[in-house]
Amino acid sequence: MRDRPIGVFDSGIGGLTVVKQLTREMPSEDIVYFGDTARVPYGTKSPSTIRKFSIENVLFLLNFDVKLIIIACNTSSAIGLPFLSKYFSVPIIGVIKPGAKAAIRATRNGRVGVIGTTATISSKAYEKEIKALNPGIKVYSKNCPLFVPLVEEGWAGDGIVDIAARKYLSALKEKKIDTVILGCTHYPLLKPAIQKVMGKTVKLVDSAEETAKEARNLLEACGLKYPGRRAGRSKFYVSDAPGKFLTVAKRFLGKDVKTAEQVKDV
Ligand code: DGL
Repeated sequence: MRDRPIGVFDSGIGGLTVVKQLTREMPSEDIVYFGDTARVPYGTKSPSTIRKFSIENVLFLLNFDVKLIIIACNTSSAIGLPFLSKYFSVPIIGVIKPGAKAAIRATRNGRVGVIGTTATISSKAYEKEIKALNPGIKVYSKNCPLFVPLVEEGWAGDGIVDIAARKYLSALKEKKIDTVILGCTHYPLLKPAIQKVMGKTVKLVDSAEETAKEARNLLEACGLKYPGRRAGRSKFYVSDAPGKFLTVAKRFLGKDVKTAEQVKDV
C-alpha cells in the first residue's frame, strides 16, 4: 500500500506547481499526474461540467491504484471536492482547505483577500472554509480571469501582467488586507506583479506549498507514506497536446518533463 503512487490532477498544466512542492516535501513518493489539457480552462465553466470532468479525472487516476488523490486545481477543488469525497473511498484532498488554514495563520489584522478563477470565486469555497475555521476573519474576493492565459502565454514577467494586476487588484488593496490567497494554480508564477500592486508587507499564500504539507501529514497519519529512501518517479499524462505541455512544464515545475503520454479517452 505504501509503495503505491500519489495521483494528482489538474485542468491542465498549472497543477505542476503542486507536484513541485510535493517532490520537495516527499521526494521518495511516486506521482502520477493527469492534466486535462483537452478541456482546460475549467475556471470559466459551469459547476456541473466541472464536477463531471473531476469525476472522470478521478476514475482515470484510479487505474494506477493510487493511495491518495490530490486535486491540484483550485476550481475543481472548490466545486468538485465535496461531491467526490462522497462517492470515492480513496482519500482525496484539494487545495482550498490547506490554503485557507495558511491564510488564517498568516493574517495579523484578520483581513484576507482571495483571488482565483471566476468559478472558484463564485463558489465562495475559500470564504466558507475560512469562516468555518474562524468566523471573525473578513474575506474579500476577486476573480482575475486574464491571469491564466497570460501565464500560459509565457508572459508572467511582462508589463501586460502589471497592467492586469493593477486593474484587478486595486479595489482589493483598498480593503486593507494583510494576506492574499493565490487561489489558482497559475498565480504563484505572478507573485512579483501581485506583490508590487498589493505592497511588500502583504503576505501571499501559495496553496500549493500548503497542500503538499497536508498530503504529507495525511499519509503519515494513515501510515501510507513511503517508508524508505528512494528517488520517487513521476509520470505525466495529458488529454491533448503533449508537446505544448512539455514546453510549458518547466515554468511550473522548475525542471524539464521528459515525456507526457496522451490519453485518448478519459
Ligand atoms: N487550474 C485552474 C485553477 O487552479 C486554473 C486553470 C483553469 O481555469 O482551468 O483554478
